[in-house]
Amino acid sequence: MGRSVLELWLLWSVVMRVMIALPIAYSASSTSSQEALLVSRIAFGSCANQSAPQPIWNAIIDFDPQIFIWLGDNIYGDVRRPFKLFGKERTIGPWKNVPRFIPSSEREMQSRYKKTKTNPGYSRLLENTKVIGTWDDHDYGLNDAGKEFNGKITSQRLLLDFLDEPQDSPRRKQAGVYTSYTFGPVDRQIKVILLDTRYHRDPLFSDGSILGSSQWTWLESELKGPASALTIIGSSIQVISNLSAITGPIFYLECWGRFPKERERLFKLIADSKRDGVFFISGDVHFGEITRYDCATGYPLFDITASGITQAVEKAVPPPLNFIVRFVAWLAPTTMRVMGQHCRRKSCTYGQPNFGAIEIDWDATPVTVKMEVRDVNGFPVLSVNTSLLELQAQSVGALYSIKPGEYRKHCSLEVTLPWIVRHRLAILFFCALAMLLLTLAGLTFTAISASVLVLI
Ligand SMILES: *[C@@H]1O[C@H](CO)[C@@H](O)[C@H](O)[C@H]1NC(C)=O
Ligand SMILES: *[C@@H]1O[C@H](CO)[C@@H](O)[C@H](O)[C@H]1NC(C)=O
Ligand SMILES: *[C@@H]1O[C@H](CO)[C@@H](O)[C@H](O)[C@H]1NC(C)=O
Repeated sequence: MGRSVLELWLLWSVVMRVMIALPIAYSASSTSSQEALLVSRIAFGSCANQSAPQPIWNAIIDFDPQIFIWLGDNIYGDVRRPFKLFGKERTIGPWKNVPRFIPSSEREMQSRYKKTKTNPGYSRLLENTKVIGTWDDHDYGLNDAGKEFNGKITSQRLLLDFLDEPQDSPRRKQAGVYTSYTFGPVDRQIKVILLDTRYHRDPLFSDGSILGSSQWTWLESELKGPASALTIIGSSIQVISNLSAITGPIFYLECWGRFPKERERLFKLIADSKRDGVFFISGDVHFGEITRYDCATGYPLFDITASGITQAVEKAVPPPLNFIVRFVAWLAPTTMRVMGQHCRRKSCTYGQPNFGAIEIDWDATPVTVKMEVRDVNGFPVLSVNTSLLELQAQSVGALYSIKPGEYRKHCSLEVTLPWIVRHRLAILFFCALAMLLLTLAGLTFTAISASVLVLI
């Protein structure tokens, strides 16, 4: 008796699992979306070193996402040489003679993907969660690479194999890995658009294209197509924040801000499409951040950055020096970042491993959307709770612009900050460098004078 109850229960749970899994799996084609499952929890992440421990999967599984989105650097496929000033292979300084990053072989990439795919945490996530994704530079095959990279056709096949893309999928035949999905029943649909910011990207500093013309044509039809309650645009690199404007001469990060014309085109397309409920998710930078831009469409455009699964700026220095990283993050000026009481750190960035969590409360009126960055234990470290109503253009012409010289948070670009504010990190850096050099010179002078004294 007990046994047949158990068997019945097992059969029931198998049936339920199939019933739950099927609509999600099939909703990518819009035809069967009628009976598709309502989606209310989506997780996302980026920057996962396959050779490092990845304990964060437990927190992601506890969040119980129906969908998980990879936003790139899903593996570190390229080879990174250590920083070397001297020796046979020098990777920095004016006398540098070898590149710091080189592509690895197809077999090596494959074995790195296998490492991630067989990671116990990630395998467990795959059991109950639909996993989709795009790439960034390190899984594309080479740090900071764009359209010139000649391993891209192979890399595309390897990523799509990793994501279990069907062999006959059109995504395997196009140039680049961009794609879209529609989840959920009519009127409660979530559209997920995943961009490819690598395959067609012009060189950095060119102010050329990121998406390339075929992807632009596709994106236009996606955004101008059937409406959805929410539209999540996944971009490996940040869309709203332009950190390079303040880290300027010292170093530059990759982001849409580095291609101002292309960024304008993206915002204009969203505004022209009259599509409500659009927001961005991104990765790449090795810290978490939520930014908001109010002057692109008739409603606030959010960009939730979760980076990374293993890679994090505070981990790049020994733990006792973490306070320096936090201090620099706090000192970095920003015009777009969402500040508030919901931040773990004063800076409202988070430099330890993290993932993104999106929760939709479909029963609330109006429907609310909670966008969070969570830590390795699943606790929110950055959080915004907004509603579908707030993500709607209030009226035609609600799009506001600012006069030159005027400052408005979430509207003024970083490049319009007063010179001294915009460059305070650089000023601090050069002051610290000058002090270091002066101290060194002082010590050398003292040592020389002392030895002269001794010799006399
Ligand atoms: C990945 O982790 C391994 C093991 O901890 C480490 O040796 C390697 O340098 C890491 N790679 C990157 C790109 O951080
Ligand atoms: C972002 O910063 C870079 C570097 O300062 C600058 O060239 C670019 O115009 C900025 N982009 C935007 C959209 O402000
Ligand atoms: C956002 O906050 C409102 C009220 O403060 C709450 O009712 C709603 O459930 C929250 N949304 C989510 C997704 O948690």
